[in-house]
Amino acid sequence: MDKERLKGKNVLITGAAQGMGAAVGEHFAAQGAKICLTDVNLDGCKEVEERIRSAGGEAISCKVDVRNREDHVAAVKATVENFGSLNVSINNAGVNKPLFFMDITEENYDFIMDINVRGALLGMQEQARQMIKQGKQKEPYKIIHVASILSRETFDDVVVYGMSKHAIAALIKGGAKSLVEHGITVNGYGPGVVRTELWEQLDKDLVAIGKFDKPGESMDSIAENMILMKRYSYPEDVVGTASFLASSESDYMTGQILMIDGGMVIQ
Ligand SMILES: NC(=O)c1ccc[n+]([C@@H]2O[C@H](COP(=O)([O-])OP(=O)(O)OC[C@H]3O[C@@H](n4cnc5c(N)ncnc54)[C@H](O)[C@@H]3O)[C@@H](O)[C@H]2O)c1
Repeated sequence: MDKERLKGKNVLITGAAQGMGAAVGEHFAAQGAKICLTDVNLDGCKEVEERIRSAGGEAISCKVDVRNREDHVAAVKATVENFGSLNVSINNAGVNKPLFFMDITEENYDFIMDINVRGALLGMQEQARQMIKQGKQKEPYKIIHVASILSRETFDDVVVYGMSKHAIAALIKGGAKSLVEHGITVNGYGPGVVRTELWEQLDKDLVAIGKFDKPGESMDSIAENMILMKRYSYPEDVVGTASFLASSESDYMTGQILMIDGGMVIQ
């Protein structure tokens, strides 16, 4: 691993208490970045912070509910106060709750869309506001969104989640066009099936709505029947692509989504 790949990058991550957000935070810190870990679960962030510090890295934690603009403002402020500036953000917080189409409720829609879409938009605005204030620099600032295979495809039991991740694709395109004049790039990465707590819960919910018969079947069945590489993934499978998008190696990219899905959705 290149321990200096992200040296000089001050990075804010949402949804960083567990799963991919935590893994990306630890990977970035091991590559020299300073990390502001944010989540509704502050205790989870502090555990990740402790692991980063014990490994010799630098991190702080901040409680953020991505649905609240003032929480984003506070997290950006904490990043700048502790590290001097904000160079990179990863808008990673996200939820899923599967329902078949005719069962979708207003509550289900609001829950998913508020966190996945409104949260990413508000975060992006406040991160960009700080980057604009810092002024254009030789290396672009980078706003990175966590998209999904469901930014390109959707299925009958996750229509609202698919809508939310298609909205993230639009946010990436619109953001890239809106922020380029300020020296900010906007890109995303799209995981496929990643074994995190989100998927453990999804697996239970899919059994509850009758999509699969028994726990664990969903991931194995999807891996066998829908993923070219015949396996689902782990957070470790995505951290390298996230690091590439945060690094200067991707400076000439904007408005793009890179899929990391073992060949599940090819376009
Ligand atoms: N796991 C997958 O298969 C998969 C696939 C494609 C995309 N994704 C996306 O990757 C991202 C990370 O997912 P994960 O699988 O690591 O999930 P995860 O459940 O392990 O982690 C998500 C984190 O987001 C936090 N969070 C939830 N609501 C929040 C809110 N209102 N404000 C702030 N934080 C909040 C949770 O506390 C949690 O720590 C999400 O955007 C998800 O949609 C996941």
